[in-house]
Amino acid sequence: MKVDGLAAIVADAMKGLDDVIVIGIGGSYLGFRSVLAALENPFRSTKPRIHFAGHHLSSGYMKQLLDYLENRSFGIIVISKSGTTTEPAVAFRFLFDRLHRQYGAEGVKKRVVVITDEKKGTLRRLADDLQLQSGVVPDDVGGRYSVFSAVGLVPLAVAGVDVKALLGGAEQAMLHVREKYNEATNPALAYAAYRNSCYRSGKKIELFASYRPELQYVAEWWKQLFGESEGKENKGVYPASVQLTTDLHSMGQWIQEGERTIFETVIDVENDASLKMLKAESDGDGLNYLAGRELNEINRIALRATMEAHRSGGVPVAEFLVPELNAHHVGALLYTFEYACGISAYALGVNPFDQPGVEAYKKNMFRMLGKPGA
Ligand code: PA5
Repeated sequence: MKVDGLAAIVADAMKGLDDVIVIGIGGSYLGFRSVLAALENPFRSTKPRIHFAGHHLSSGYMKQLLDYLENRSFGIIVISKSGTTTEPAVAFRFLFDRLHRQYGAEGVKKRVVVITDEKKGTLRRLADDLQLQSGVVPDDVGGRYSVFSAVGLVPLAVAGVDVKALLGGAEQAMLHVREKYNEATNPALAYAAYRNSCYRSGKKIELFASYRPELQYVAEWWKQLFGESEGKENKGVYPASVQLTTDLHSMGQWIQEGERTIFETVIDVENDASLKMLKAESDGDGLNYLAGRELNEINRIALRATMEAHRSGGVPVAEFLVPELNAHHVGALLYTFEYACGISAYALGVNPFDQPGVEAYKKNMFRMLGKPGA
């Protein structure tokens, strides 16, 4: 796998800006957001700061973003494979207008990057007409499988993520899962078999459970990947997610004793920052029995204890062991899920690469909005 040349060029051009707005939805948004959230330090202010738009139609959000951007030096990366999706198109109209008024026709050429189909779509026409910098979403790569293309790599490079390491991890996983057609050693195959056997035994809901808040958007990405790939022809595991231990205090009761239609997939990250529990003079909070132990060890004991409890409550639990949250291992994890998703959907008897049901809401919305020709 090669780093898209555009990624490095755009990252270099945008590094002096205060803010970059990444516009996109679904597969044109979640891959980037999931990797960024897994790897960034949310408490460190970065330059440029990354913001998201075009992933909903909230006017309050857009108004606040426009107000915030007043007198700031910003750029836009707009991503849409079809180039016709309403949510990103609406966001782009507002943000492009602001940029254009601030910097004029020449200025926007340096500050806008379009990633879309090579030849067709409204966005491609717009990019060509206005001579904007642009990258291509490969024709044979669907949105939810596109994080390792310009769709993910360009904004990730702008955000300072090590895209070479990300691709290196994905490549290593690719060589592993493609060559080892043995359920015992191939995680993608084993995972696809596990979820299909759970589904066939009446476990229709899968919980993606992680013990690190950084993985919240990997869970969102995973939900789209499996939900959109498998949920068709009245079939498909319903992908849901929980953040643990947080949700043990809200959803824990349901998972332990609610309807027995769930199975669980746990992401166990082995290494985390070293932080030893403090010893207190008075032990007023009764925590001295933990003094000197790594907080990560305590977190992983919570994981083991929860897995054991859920299994004893009739919930099948599988585990992905990730050595560390870095670009290499995140790349490997995402690639393994993508590959597993293809196998799992074919085992279920559906096409993993289409999404005919997504059109239904659009037809109604266009009719109700009075779009010409709808
Ligand atoms: O995975 C998919 O194909 C979808 O989620 C799309 O990515 C999403 O609908 C956005 O489409 P587009 O990139 O054409 O704007």
